[in-house]
Amino acid sequence: MIQAINKNLIIRNAAQVVRCSGRTAKCGVQMSELNIIENANVVITNGIITYVGNKIELPHYTNPYEYKTIDATGKAVLPGFVDSHTHLIFGGYRQDEFSWRMRGDSYMSIMERGGGIHNTMEATRNASFEELYTEAKSRLTRMLKLGVTTVEAKSGYGMDKETELKQLAVIQELNRTQPVSIVPTFMGAHATPKEFKGREDDFIDYVTQEIMPDVKEKKLATFCDIFCEKDVFSIEQSRKYLQKAKELGFLLKIHADEIVQFGGAELAAEMGCTSADHLLQASDEGIRKMAEKGVVATLLPCTAFSLKENFANARKIIDSGCAVALATDLNPGSSFTSSIPLTFALACIYMKMSPEEAVTALTINGAAAVARAESIGSIDEGKLADIVILDFPSYKFLPYHIGMNIVGTVIKNGEIVAQNG
Ligand code: NIG
Ligand code: FE
Repeated sequence: MIQAINKNLIIRNAAQVVRCSGRTAKCGVQMSELNIIENANVVITNGIITYVGNKIELPHYTNPYEYKTIDATGKAVLPGFVDSHTHLIFGGYRQDEFSWRMRGDSYMSIMERGGGIHNTMEATRNASFEELYTEAKSRLTRMLKLGVTTVEAKSGYGMDKETELKQLAVIQELNRTQPVSIVPTFMGAHATPKEFKGREDDFIDYVTQEIMPDVKEKKLATFCDIFCEKDVFSIEQSRKYLQKAKELGFLLKIHADEIVQFGGAELAAEMGCTSADHLLQASDEGIRKMAEKGVVATLLPCTAFSLKENFANARKIIDSGCAVALATDLNPGSSFTSSIPLTFALACIYMKMSPEEAVTALTINGAAAVARAESIGSIDEGKLADIVILDFPSYKFLPYHIGMNIVGTVIKNGEIVAQNG
């Protein structure tokens, strides 16, 4: 008998295949279109999706002896989730700061007295490559079990050349050695380190002149990102940083309007950022401009939840015609979680997103937020076979089964990479 070829797979008789079809971000009302086929089969050939539909007779090339088969009776099949905003690589933890915040201290006040991002910067500078690699790898394994097949990961806890490059090299190595695809982002401007205190402009010059070109030359990042916020980096500093990144050929992201309304959303539109993230305080004008320029609005409900802030106004953002992505913001401070189940629950229960919108936000729009909507984020012929099979018959269980991992099987590039329970 012919051996089943690696990466050839048939998923049979799924209760529903939630395709999320498309090759670009879905905006506004389009976010509700999931393009579902019931009682459907998916054929994967050499890691690529080659057929989706409910024909009983599968296409002629699907010699059953060359394909491994998964019976998905009673189960929903979706694209693998894309977590499009994380700070995956970091040293140390900040459990004491969490307690202080629960006592009433604010995130920014802890940062101002040398904690927060500065605390993690010290720990990350002191960590070896191997330590950062091992910790991040175990986080990725957990994420994979939750159905995450692509993740964006930022540097930004070095704030010096050596450590920023170390973080990015860890990402590069992880991309080589484990199944989750990682989209690397250089976040040289996350905070101003103590050596540059009070000299933010000099720090921006240092990062853009001394580090950013090297990151480009070594091909260590796709995106550049900056924390544009009152008392962190101003609009002018952010514009300068993003302008330099654009000139060097990077795609752009921005942490915008998280703590106060600051004009970050407007700047994202002006600079042509791929995404603007957080947006808790974004102005109506900023949201309108983002919709006009096609900037993906990446919302991070776990961060608002953890900081006990009001959630971003997802309804207004979607109803204004923006494309919304959802992500975890995994980091040791403001959102120490990679929970996709919690993200779904918060988005639907508190942010008034429908389950359909939340699914779009974690699949095709997440893919668009990392500029990969051409190749992942939907179950369409020709795309990479990054797929999850749920333990339940409908995507509607994702927010409804609150905080629970209902992903049974995870397929990456046509291979089964995780099987829960
Ligand atoms: O997206 N806001 C800035 N950066 C991260 C938090 C980083 C940290 O606290 O370590 C965020 O929330
Ligand atoms: Fe972040």
